[in-house]
Amino acid sequence: MRSPALTDAIEPQALRAQLERLEPEIATGSGAVRIVRAPGRVNLIGEYTDFNQGYVLPAAIDREIRIAFIPTGDRRVVLHRLDNSERGAFDLDQLPQRTGEWLDYAVGTAWALSQAGVELRGLRGVIGSDLPTGAGLSSSAAIELAVAHALLADPLEAPDAMALARLAQRGENGFVGVQSGLMDQFAVACGQAGAALLLDCRSLDWRSVVLPLDQVRLVVCDSGQARQLTGSAYNVRRAQCDTAVAILAGHDPAIRSLRDVSAELLDEAAAGGWLEPVVLKRATHVVRENQRVIETIAALEAGDLLALGELFAASHSSLRNLFEVSSPALDALVGIAVATPGVVAARMTGAGFGGCTINLVRPDAVEDLRAAVESSYASRTGFVARVFPVVPAAGAGPMSA
Ligand code: GLA
Repeated sequence: MRSPALTDAIEPQALRAQLERLEPEIATGSGAVRIVRAPGRVNLIGEYTDFNQGYVLPAAIDREIRIAFIPTGDRRVVLHRLDNSERGAFDLDQLPQRTGEWLDYAVGTAWALSQAGVELRGLRGVIGSDLPTGAGLSSSAAIELAVAHALLADPLEAPDAMALARLAQRGENGFVGVQSGLMDQFAVACGQAGAALLLDCRSLDWRSVVLPLDQVRLVVCDSGQARQLTGSAYNVRRAQCDTAVAILAGHDPAIRSLRDVSAELLDEAAAGGWLEPVVLKRATHVVRENQRVIETIAALEAGDLLALGELFAASHSSLRNLFEVSSPALDALVGIAVATPGVVAARMTGAGFGGCTINLVRPDAVEDLRAAVESSYASRTGFVARVFPVVPAAGAGPMSA
């Protein structure tokens, strides 16, 4: 369940009151206040496949960031974060340099939208959230998409959801400096209530995949370990995948990404010593993970819960051993989950290095999972976990105020 305190804090009325308090001279009658929202996401499977032109299966979730704001005639953007009372401000005509702080995600989005010729306007706003930040649930992509919607001078002329997702990704790549793929921004922008989203990261074709939510609930376990080293370790992994592609393309010119690499070619590469061991491990993860996404879709369609459990387990162990992005805390959470009767499937979700796991859990076993985590996780890891069910939610956009 959502924490009621958090939920109340992002109710439109509460956000409007905060805006009036923090921007007293600008926040006149409530009719002038607009509210945009952007959800977080979990990824069911397909990890580190997005920038390899593969498949991903994320879902937007019912934890979100909201911005209540008043558009202004000037070019100044002022945002107050309600969770930590920080204030960020910048001028749309003179964007500041990157600082390594959260505001970079807003500035990067403004930068990418401006570069694409999208007309923007200034605003005074407050940011409220019931989405844990820095927990691997794409709070940064949620800020990007919420800011994108808030900055649009003419919301009726807004680029479509996929176009906004791509612009937000461009901001993150080009301004923030993380060479992330499209998955997070896509899920946050295009989310659908009740469904996961299968995205082909090469063609950008996607479709919704209805989940058997009567049989399994989606449960997030937040390890309480803030994600570490994400930017640099992430970029290193991406470069290793690019190295694999460059070498494999030397053997088969049809290869443009790891998406094109078959299991057979990988075996040949391994036998021939074409790739240094660490690069071979990264490539092996990606090639098999793509296959697992396809198999997960089939298992979901067939209602084969046993297969889902095996696929999630294989994905987690590949992320731990081959892609090396898990952590002892995430491994402990997955270990506790799979030992709990009624937990169908468990794996880390997102970039890793801390963050969250995603679990498919029979409805009557959700409390058992919570109890199992509460009784042994902290003593095993020194961290305090949070366990909360989520449901797939609609993507970012304006709320009726
Ligand atoms: C982060 C990135 C995504 C994706 C995942 C790993 O969330 O932002 O693009 O690469 O890691 O699957």
